[in-house]
Amino acid sequence: MSRVFRRVLRRGQRSVFFKAALLLCAALMFTTILAGCGRSDTKTIGIIQIADHPSLNTIRESFIEELERLGYKDGDNIRIDYQNALEDQTNLKTISQKFVNNKYDLIVAIATPSALAAAGETKEIPILFAACTDPVSSGLVESLEKPGANVTGTSDAVSAEAIMELALRITPDIETIGAIYNSGEANSVSVIRDLKEYAAKKGLKVVEGTITNTSELQQVAQNLVQKSDALFSPIDNTVASAMPLLAQVAIDAKVPVYVGADSMVKDGGLATYGVNYVTLGQETAKMAVEILNGANPAEMPVRIFDTDEMNIYLNRATAEKIGVTFPQDILDEAAEVFGE
Ligand code: TRP
Repeated sequence: MSRVFRRVLRRGQRSVFFKAALLLCAALMFTTILAGCGRSDTKTIGIIQIADHPSLNTIRESFIEELERLGYKDGDNIRIDYQNALEDQTNLKTISQKFVNNKYDLIVAIATPSALAAAGETKEIPILFAACTDPVSSGLVESLEKPGANVTGTSDAVSAEAIMELALRITPDIETIGAIYNSGEANSVSVIRDLKEYAAKKGLKVVEGTITNTSELQQVAQNLVQKSDALFSPIDNTVASAMPLLAQVAIDAKVPVYVGADSMVKDGGLATYGVNYVTLGQETAKMAVEILNGANPAEMPVRIFDTDEMNIYLNRATAEKIGVTFPQDILDEAAEVFGE
């Protein structure tokens, strides 16, 4: 110890010196603890949704509810920032950029257009998609088993063949199918491809009516019902957003509309064979928890549903209006009959 120092201590200031050191230590520890809390506990999830149609709302609500059940509550130990693009591509980009700039911990993207927009903005932040019909052909993942990058999720892949087999049991006299969908939605394009393959095998004809936004729906539908024995719409976000309108055009022309999702049946479509979106939302939440706990999306297989996990959904009010009677065995099999 230097002479000067010894002298200071000798002067009776020893206790002051120790007090100061102690205080400094305490202050340092306190700031470290504070910083630690802020950083580790409150993670932020950004939810991006393409449109405000009932099916996507069901998925989001079911996701948030299940997340809470699994111990992650918004405003408590996580923060959720939910943004809806209201069917606008530019909004999708702006929202995705905001999530990335704010360095959110996880992006949950509901429907294919949202997932594609988010994936275009980051290769680092994990992206968990919900209800993407064909994540492989839309380019979201390399394969269902091994997604390969920062993107994975749940798929609502349906079988065009299963829907058409159901259609032919309800209205056997179909020769020409009018396919109505947004040609810009990768999720629809892939189902229409399957529909055409099936139709070719069965000797049925497919005529197409494509739209790019909801304002074109009425005219395209009116044209299509004149040429078709039945309409078919895949799990298309644009059609779903204006489903009551399509249902009305088809009812006026007394043409059955077969669709890809239960909400589209509820909104006036005749029937579908599809997934349960409440379950899909719950499955998405389970994957979110895995990712929040450090799992790597590249290694997490996409969750798809088997045909035996799917259900028949019917609309009796629509059937009555177009003069169709559901066979009893189909009614017995149905998970839900709307419009009763
Ligand atoms: N499967 C659609 C997609 O990949 C999203 C979706 C979920 C949907 N449920 C729906 C679309 C119901 C229309 C109707 O983008």
